[in-house]
Amino acid sequence: MINQEKIDEILSKINIVELISEYVKLKKKGTSYFGLCPFHNEKTPSFSVSESKQIFYCFGCHKGGNAIKFLEEYEHYSFFESLKYLGEKVGITVEPNNSFKENNKKEKDIIQNINKEVAIEFHNQLKEKEGLQGYKYLIDRKLNDNTIIHFGLGFSPKDNKYIYKFLKKKGYDDNIIKLSGLVIYNGNDYNDRFRNRIIFPIMNTNNNVIGFGGRVMGNDEPKYLNSSDTLLFNKSKNLFGLNFAKRTKEKYLILCEGYMDVIQMHQAGFTNAIASLGTALTESQCKLIARYTDEIILSYDSDDAGINATLRAIPLLREVNINPKILSLNPYKDPDDFLKNESIDSLKERIKNSKNFFIFEIEQIKKNYNLSDPTEKTNFEKKIVEKLFDFKEKLERNNYLKAICHEYNINEEYLLEMVSNYMLKQNNYFKEKYSNQKTINIDKILDIKIQDQFFYILFNKSKFINLVQKYLNIDDIYGDFYKNILTELYNGKSFNDIQIKYENNNSYLDKLHKYIIDNNYIIGLNLNEDIDVKKILESLIKKIKIQNYQLLSKECDVSSINIYKKLINIYKDEKIIL
Ligand code: UTP
Ligand code: MN
Repeated sequence: MINQEKIDEILSKINIVELISEYVKLKKKGTSYFGLCPFHNEKTPSFSVSESKQIFYCFGCHKGGNAIKFLEEYEHYSFFESLKYLGEKVGITVEPNNSFKENNKKEKDIIQNINKEVAIEFHNQLKEKEGLQGYKYLIDRKLNDNTIIHFGLGFSPKDNKYIYKFLKKKGYDDNIIKLSGLVIYNGNDYNDRFRNRIIFPIMNTNNNVIGFGGRVMGNDEPKYLNSSDTLLFNKSKNLFGLNFAKRTKEKYLILCEGYMDVIQMHQAGFTNAIASLGTALTESQCKLIARYTDEIILSYDSDDAGINATLRAIPLLREVNINPKILSLNPYKDPDDFLKNESIDSLKERIKNSKNFFIFEIEQIKKNYNLSDPTEKTNFEKKIVEKLFDFKEKLERNNYLKAICHEYNINEEYLLEMVSNYMLKQNNYFKEKYSNQKTINIDKILDIKIQDQFFYILFNKSKFINLVQKYLNIDDIYGDFYKNILTELYNGKSFNDIQIKYENNNSYLDKLHKYIIDNNYIIGLNLNEDIDVKKILESLIKKIKIQNYQLLSKECDVSSINIYKKLINIYKDEKIIL
């Protein structure tokens, strides 16, 4: 916890006009300062900063607050990070009381310094004799000076001890150099990790260089090399370009595959592009993205590897409640390639037309089926049904169902029906799997007596089994135990057979018998009168079906419409006459 006094002290020493001027061009107008709002797109300034009140306010998008709030909004810093940043400006240290891992922190700070100094050195190398080829390479790849400076791109010399010597000269000791991820120690010798490569500094969201990527200028292998993981750097937890992209006024981020893609995108004005760091997208990266936006456009390579990477990224993003869209850059390989050949406007158009992730997934599945073949078409539709269950909410699922039916000219009601059947099947599977755990709960809702009565009668009047079979399916029965017994009966097994088989199972039938007699369930029923037995069985079948569907509809959401339809049929239309 940081006490309020400290917060007040920092805020009183900060001048919000100076702070915001670092980000927004402000002009004095009356008692306030005005500029173009950094939080929404506008052509005339409606963003105001008041020096006397030490607050900002936008008359367009209504964002406003003090200096801390500005940093939270603009830099996406946390409250603590904002305060710390402001504290540094006015010479007040802000530390959480429980500053643990003190040692780690010190080492981290030193590595941070190393990275900063090395990044500057690599960048300066572009102007040196040896580095000129690197500069030329970047120019050849259509990057301009502003971009090269903005991203701090650089060059690492061929000398395999260049950075080691550089760091030693700066006074860093071997232990910390080993931890920096920039030098490889083989037991007795130190060699630079990056040699004769184009350097891409990797920054965290606070604009600190945490690691580097290095690309060969020719066709050597490996094409790209990253810093090894350090106390600061973890490939799977950071995203390239996010430090810039987090300031975008767009509502969405564009996730690309490579460093060059991000850089070209930013140069072309798409400052909301980011990339992972040479690994498949991870859960941590998705969580990081979700801190900034819930809209992502995936722009992976258009080859098979890229498509597979897209298919793997989709469920990960869905886990953090992002429904990604997919950008197609065909016939070009990646954004870099696209921008080399096409205009910025045509990329904008492509972005506008990016595909909903589910439509994309189904499109990929479709590639495996020949839809002019009826069997394959059916299998494709079955696959769609299965895939629809990626959506847990019925409303969402049904909306996607509609969209897909529209796209592939499939009868909506037919697919709904398939979905509902699939749900029933899944439910049964689920019940089987969890039958032990669920028994208690289910028994509470289930009027088990109905099925008990029914079976009791059937046991005594086996001649009705064939008639019953016409109306009652195994699936209409609730509970595995009864399902099994009914299956055996339908298979022509006699009661004695079943009784022997289930004898060990708590001699169920005896229990049932006693239960029925004790509770006097079949009152007024003359089991000798076939007419009476038929009537009772007819009514019990109906009750069993209704009860079963009611239970199912309680357990599942999708199929409920269909289940209710069926229930209504059973109530109204389905004539059960034995
Ligand atoms: P690509 O091979 O698609 O390269 O790798 P690219 O981004 O299009 O690069 P250019 O245009 O040829 O310069 C995409 C990303 O995968 C990682 C890098 O992060 C790269 O940006 N990668 C690739 C590696 O980490 N190592 C490699 O050997 C290759
Ligand atoms: Mn490329």
